Amino acid sequence: MCGIIGIVSLKESKKLAEMTVSALKRLEYRGYDSVGVASVSSSGLEIRKAKGKVEEVVLHKKIEEMEGYVFLGHTRWATHGAPTDYNAHPHTDCNGNIAVVHNGTIKNYKELREELESLGHKFKSETDTEVIPHLIEEFMKRGMDPFQAFKSAIKSLDGSYAVLAVISGERRIFFAKRDNPLIIGLGEGQNFIASDIPAFLPYTKRILVIRDDELGFVTPETVYLEDKDGNVVNIKERIRIVDWDIETASKEGYPHFMIKEIHESPRAVKDTIDSLMSDIDLIEKVIEEIKNAERIIIIGAGTSYHAGLYFSIELNRLGINSIPLIASEYYNVKNKKGDLVFAISQSGETIDVLQGIRMMKNNGAKIVSLTNVIESAIARESDYKIYMRAGPEIGVAATKTFTTQLASILFILSILKKDNLKKIEKAPDIVRDTISQVEGLTKKIGEELAKKSNIYYLGRGLSLPLAMEGALKIKEIAYVHAEAYPAGESKHGPISLVEKGFPVVIINDGEMTELLQNNLMEMKARGARIYAISVNKKMKDADVGIELQSEIPALSIAPVIQLIAYYAAITKGYDPDKPRNLAKTVTVE
Ligand code: AGP
Repeated sequence: MCGIIGIVSLKESKKLAEMTVSALKRLEYRGYDSVGVASVSSSGLEIRKAKGKVEEVVLHKKIEEMEGYVFLGHTRWATHGAPTDYNAHPHTDCNGNIAVVHNGTIKNYKELREELESLGHKFKSETDTEVIPHLIEEFMKRGMDPFQAFKSAIKSLDGSYAVLAVISGERRIFFAKRDNPLIIGLGEGQNFIASDIPAFLPYTKRILVIRDDELGFVTPETVYLEDKDGNVVNIKERIRIVDWDIETASKEGYPHFMIKEIHESPRAVKDTIDSLMSDIDLIEKVIEEIKNAERIIIIGAGTSYHAGLYFSIELNRLGINSIPLIASEYYNVKNKKGDLVFAISQSGETIDVLQGIRMMKNNGAKIVSLTNVIESAIARESDYKIYMRAGPEIGVAATKTFTTQLASILFILSILKKDNLKKIEKAPDIVRDTISQVEGLTKKIGEELAKKSNIYYLGRGLSLPLAMEGALKIKEIAYVHAEAYPAGESKHGPISLVEKGFPVVIINDGEMTELLQNNLMEMKARGARIYAISVNKKMKDADVGIELQSEIPALSIAPVIQLIAYYAAITKGYDPDKPRNLAKTVTVE
């Protein structure tokens, strides 16, 4: 997920550079590993870009001194190509007359790049985006006018995109949109176009939301818009007035980043599975390593540990020797040369995981990492780097990244088991359908659990890591003490705590319903109030129940436990985005 902004004005002035910079600052939550700006002025096209956060790059590259009547800005969340100066957007054609910024994934970029290189085009980056300016250049070389060339370039792309392009000498911004957001802001004598409303909200509240497969261009006073069939769109009836403030706008109208990110999970899962699909040769190599290893040590912390435990249970069921390892306890494992280490970390910076993989690497292990940040510390120290494409997660509590970790693990398992991929391809819809089905019920449960002081979360088999994640979530953002146990374990002591009204949440992924039903009755017999979250099977005598049908139970249960915790936190009046005592990334031991 990147932040992009375009401004086109009747007047040529430095003010536009300042407006571009302030827009990028308001978009920085969408990505912050490199920044770049292009300007078109009477003296041509200029690009200034570098690795680093907005503040750093603006100072170091003196971006606010740029002149022009058209500006493009980009703040990057690296997906293809490490965060470097040359991979930063904007990207240009061979002669530096065309500049492009992009948010999304071009699935066929390798084929396009090969074809363009065979035509003599010289590339300067490792990104998928760079094919776009070269395509425009190629089509203009063949005699097309700028807009026709832009359209032909877009039609060559397979993937998701929000693209802005500028051409030297042209006082307009070309745009196209598929799957990633693009909104126009209508000003006076100047127009804006960006991935998100906060970018231009201080300058105008009149907006025009671009729809999938629409494209066109923006001038200082007009918007030309075509639909996917090339019909001109009358924009008048599509113009809206927003009454958001900036804070609300960056959450796209949601009250908190956490709930916004839970609702982003389907998109995060889709982008990740698309990306894993396009990197299938890497996955095949990792699977070979898994098959040849004597043991798979799966290391992670917190939520990532729960995803790792899920993975470990599945691998052991396949007869593959695997142990889940809580990262801060890494010194308890003496790994051997034949071991393969699988490190899971959304930030890619958790120090416990880093220390663990360094120790095990010194003992001869190969390292595979699953992270959400390209070239993060853990990724850099890995032999195989698998990347999720969940986009930045601003809320301290992991939500969309946990669901995406599970989806990534399930994708790898599908390849390992040589399953048909049709089921995992349904993952985004499964997550989306679950959220729309259960949000009301999770709110009710969250409101009830907010009033409790102790809760048990029970699971068995693959639903145990999900129970553990549910307990962690409600602990860390609603500050309600919750413990997760293997349901069968509760008879060996924990049940003594249960008395009338004691809340017990039972997570049932449908696999061990009979045994879980027995545990439910044991708890109920002692007065517990039972909240049953059950997939594909019914549980009897629960006091409150969420029953779901799902082809992939884990991906349905994940958003349910996250939403319950979220609603418990807001019932207690807490800010779920910034829970007390916690940091998004733990970089100290
Ligand atoms: C997530 O809700 C927790 N805040 C925390 O446990 C987190 O999962 C853990 O710190 C690991 O982070 P990582 O995935 O970035 O390594």
